Amino acid sequence: MSHSHHHTLAKPLGLDSLGPVTAEEARLLEKLDVSRLPRHIAIIMDGNGRWAQKRHLPRIVGHSTGTESARTTIETCARLNIEALTLYAFSVENWRRPKTEIEFLMKLLRQYIRNEMPLIQRNNIRMRFLGRSDDLPLAVQKDTRDAIDATARNSGMVLSIALNYGGRAELVDAMNSILAERRRHNGHTATEPISEEQLARHLYTADLPDPDLLIRTSGEMRVSNFLLWQIAYAELFVTDVLWPDFNRARLFEALLDFQKRERRYGGIDAAPPSRAAR
Ligand code: FPP
Repeated sequence: MSHSHHHTLAKPLGLDSLGPVTAEEARLLEKLDVSRLPRHIAIIMDGNGRWAQKRHLPRIVGHSTGTESARTTIETCARLNIEALTLYAFSVENWRRPKTEIEFLMKLLRQYIRNEMPLIQRNNIRMRFLGRSDDLPLAVQKDTRDAIDATARNSGMVLSIALNYGGRAELVDAMNSILAERRRHNGHTATEPISEEQLARHLYTADLPDPDLLIRTSGEMRVSNFLLWQIAYAELFVTDVLWPDFNRARLFEALLDFQKRERRYGGIDAAPPSRAAR
């Protein structure tokens, strides 16, 4: 599959690029300060199964409908000039689900990557995948690599899909990657203590700012092994809305809630502690 690059045709970004808005969206947008948006939003897209069950539909219908919420969220964040958006699609723990649901999710993801490519290109988005990719089905590995390559030269929002992702696994992988690097160089650095900066450089998210805002749908007050290191100072927004019902108005509400918070990073003013801890 080959993709062309359309980023020179990308529409101007910002509020004007959102297209027609509903009355509810307009009312929320009016209150939003576009100069104080989060740089990086991370989302735990939970509640697809419950959404389907409530309607006496199979769980997989919830996942399919959830892709529409993902599309809206991705496009809206790109147009608001958000630097990075990270979506939790499949965790290392999700292999414990029934085989048929796992297979459906993998198929859905492959379809999603293919179907959304025009939208991704139109919005100048760079794609990434966070997680242990080697353990994914080969077909998924190929599609994810194609998506990364096809969007590598885009310059807009970085969209990361966490796939076979676990926060503890990521920290273990980072430490093993440091050990491997030290073995390769085999010099005096081998016995140096590991610093926060060095560890952060070996995470899957190496060159991304840490999330400022972590959104979780469907009400559970848990972090579920998501971006454990990176969310150290993130504002948490948990909503009872189930992921398939999460739309643009709900996203604007999360952003407004974020703007009401006073961020202190453990100090008494609003400056982040240091570049290193970001
Ligand atoms: C959680 O709902 C959701 C998932 C495990 C899968 C998320 C996947 C998608 C939205 C599909 C496509 C992926 C992308 C990147 C667009 P759940 O099944 O845990 O719901 P429940 O807690 O109600 O059972």
